[in-house]
Amino acid sequence: MTTLVLPDLRWFPGWAATVADFGGKNMHGSGDWNLDQPLEPTEESCHAFMAALAASAPGDPGGGKVPSTYYWITAEDGGPDDEVIGFLNLRHDLNDFLLEEGGHIGYSVRPARRRQGHASRALGLSVAAAGALGIDRVLLTCDTDNEASARTIEANGGVLEDVRKGKRRYWVTVPSSQRRSGARGGAAGGRP
Ligand SMILES: CC(C)(COP(=O)(O)OP(=O)(O)OC[C@H]1O[C@@H](n2cnc3c(N)ncnc32)[C@H](O)[C@@H]1OP(=O)(O)O)[C@@H](O)C(=O)NCCC(=O)NCCS
Repeated sequence: MTTLVLPDLRWFPGWAATVADFGGKNMHGSGDWNLDQPLEPTEESCHAFMAALAASAPGDPGGGKVPSTYYWITAEDGGPDDEVIGFLNLRHDLNDFLLEEGGHIGYSVRPARRRQGHASRALGLSVAAAGALGIDRVLLTCDTDNEASARTIEANGGVLEDVRKGKRRYWVTVPSSQRRSGARGGAAGGRP
């Protein structure tokens, strides 16, 4: 099983182990780009992330950023004893950069827990979350040489539109059963 949870300090041990496992490599979906200091596997760093999160609540994008939801990917049921094993960020809108290169969703799974289906399941859960926000088509992108990410997207029904600036651009249609009524298309519409 795989679950998306909203960040909470109760899952700090797994979060820290995940950050440590990346060893300074880019943690897509973790929010590290949004911070003054790179994320480190310490309580201080986790607190800094939580503070930045609280300061940029959805609906207050600021500085050209679109509202988004940060999730932590956990290995089991999302209970208090569950273990964080990755990150996922769901952008509620597409700005010019996201439409060309970034897409709606960024994600990563810690190296020690890869090839266990977690990214595929987490992506499926986030597509449903996008539908609940009123998004009916989700844009997903990956580097042309990122086979793991391409297969993760394709496993979730991604249809390749084109390649731009070294990125494969896929669209996933949110199943109607997961859509909020009055859903909007990929790049259109206002903020939720
Ligand atoms: C991409 C990533 C999230 C995949 O995570 P994961 O949990 O290992 O993915 P899954 O176990 O769900 O596997 C999904 C598919 O990718 C395939 N796959 C996973 N790792 C692979 C690899 N290194 N090479 C080739 N295929 C791979 C799996 O076999 C599976 O394919 P299938 O559905 O055809 O069987 C992970 O490799 C990662 O965090 N990479 C670094 C960050 C990143 O690139 N994020 C995406 C940015 S666009």
